[in-house]
Amino acid sequence: MKGGGGGGGKRRWKGLVIGVLVLVILSMLVPLAFLLGLHNGFHSSGFVTLQPSSASNDGFRQFDSFGRTNDSKVSKSESDHVDEVLRKLVPVLPKVPKDVEKIKGLGDINESSTEEDARRGLPVPSNVVPSPVSTSNTIDGAPTKEIQHTMVNADETGKACQVKYGSYCLWREENKEPMKDTNVKKMKDQLFVARAYYPSIAKMPSQSKLTRDMKQNIQDFERILSEGSADTDLPPQIDKKLQKMEDVISKAKSFPVDCNNVDKKLRQILDLTDDEVSFHMKQSVFLYQLAVQTMPKSLHCLSMRLTVEYFKSPLPDVDLSIAKKSTDPSLYHYVIISNNVLASSVVINSTVSHARDSKNLVFHVLTDEQNYFGMKEWFFRNPCKVASVQVLNTEKLDLENHDLHLSLPVEFRVSFRHSTHYLTIFSHSHYLLPKIFPNLEKVVVLDDDVVVQRDLSPLWDLDLEGKVNGAVRTCSLRLGQLKSHIGGGSFDDNACPWMSGLNIIDLGKWREFGVSETYQRLVKEQMNARDKSSETISLRASLLTFQDLVYPLDNTWALSGLGYDHSVSAQAIKDAAILHYNGNMKPWLELGIPKYKPYWKKFLNRKDQFLTDCNVNP
Ligand SMILES: *[C@@H]1O[C@H](CO)[C@@H](O)[C@H](O)[C@H]1NC(C)=O
Repeated sequence: MKGGGGGGGKRRWKGLVIGVLVLVILSMLVPLAFLLGLHNGFHSSGFVTLQPSSASNDGFRQFDSFGRTNDSKVSKSESDHVDEVLRKLVPVLPKVPKDVEKIKGLGDINESSTEEDARRGLPVPSNVVPSPVSTSNTIDGAPTKEIQHTMVNADETGKACQVKYGSYCLWREENKEPMKDTNVKKMKDQLFVARAYYPSIAKMPSQSKLTRDMKQNIQDFERILSEGSADTDLPPQIDKKLQKMEDVISKAKSFPVDCNNVDKKLRQILDLTDDEVSFHMKQSVFLYQLAVQTMPKSLHCLSMRLTVEYFKSPLPDVDLSIAKKSTDPSLYHYVIISNNVLASSVVINSTVSHARDSKNLVFHVLTDEQNYFGMKEWFFRNPCKVASVQVLNTEKLDLENHDLHLSLPVEFRVSFRHSTHYLTIFSHSHYLLPKIFPNLEKVVVLDDDVVVQRDLSPLWDLDLEGKVNGAVRTCSLRLGQLKSHIGGGSFDDNACPWMSGLNIIDLGKWREFGVSETYQRLVKEQMNARDKSSETISLRASLLTFQDLVYPLDNTWALSGLGYDHSVSAQAIKDAAILHYNGNMKPWLELGIPKYKPYWKKFLNRKDQFLTDCNVNP
């Protein structure tokens, strides 16, 4: 019993110590919380979200609501913050209606005005209800001019967007719709500003008339907006009302109002809309990426239909005659690694169409199990003059100890301050070529996103001067600039990276130099680097492997950029032997850049029944 009593005393004593400790900690936390501005009635996280360009978000640098650079994540003190909001806001307000005209770029993130409304934090039209003017519902307002301005800036340069989101921005630019219902939007903007000022004005006893006017205008606007969501729903004298509201607002602004009040309101709204703008931006980008990466339904349908057809009525066995040609080293052998029947078809047809003599051409299409039969069916149905086409299923190749999964050329997007490039490089399937074609000494490798516009036979006469890979290089980019992506190494910083797309390969030299082995070793070395993606590893390994083994082809051989660069000149296109649609906007996709599509489309046999059936209409 005694022992038990003593234990109880100890416990009590312990409890006391803990209690005191808690008190001490609390007494330290309270002033700290006060210092951090929690007393101001705002959720503290709101303050942080005012700066969308956080470390993880540096592409958004120019989207910053307050136009400051955000190199440090340290928030400014509260009073600075208030000042800045007001400084920015004041000169902007009188110009509201004119500015709205300029923000077209903003409207195209979401096409329909309903989505637009949702993005702005406004209720969608069906449930727009007139709301009494009170502190609690001002967050229903539209974004301030600030956000719109920063978005305009981003759109004007377009660069910040591109750095962050790549070709999505170009696509958005290309597909933007003129902004609809500008008057409704002007009204929402004005309503928002008026609501922000109203409580401060209402507190001034001397300004009862202005208070009444403001209230009148606000209610008026709310009523009108509740009745219609399009410009056509607005009453005829809307211009006058807009003018009246503008007058009231500029009057309200002329008073030295309590900054804190206005700021409070603006900040609540800013937090909300800022988050939403960023959210919707991300959402659009995500959907866009999905559209880019997903095989369009119609192409999938085509592949399926062809496969079914193949099994319904097996082809006459043409493989034997092709087999003989496909190993004949005296012929011109072209290799295409692809899972896209339309793309391969265009590459082959365009090559054959310009070839002086098509009977010496042999095409080898390397594809996967899923597309193998469809491809065979397609090239049987759509022969290209007398050229031979051999379709190979990489997964069924007779090669031991190799990864036989088809891997398409890897596109690597590199962005610098003012430019974006897509580097295309060999994938691991390329490194199987010397083994797949043991009898061949030379092949030309074409990516499936190219169109050939000239006779390619001069390529075969080129003296590669002992090099392995004849390739076009992109000298607008230097290896030194890539270092942040691929890491250092024994690179010549000034060297230009070479491109996949059109490559003449000396397989004999390839075997002699053990190129595949070098590549595999380099990949293995990097496998354990946790911070590197497999694309980065491939890029680095390919660049290093071929470092001294590239024979630079003249730039007129291949023109790249047609899958992302909107400013390729028509003359350059005309002059190029090969057009390379590297980038996200492939010509067979809805997203393809419209003005470059015709060069690709004209080599497609669009009369094929299956194309019609599957609604393939690139
Ligand atoms: C090849 O291209 C030509 C146009 O140059 C087109 O008329 C023809 O239908 C195409 N053939 C195939 C098999 O796609």
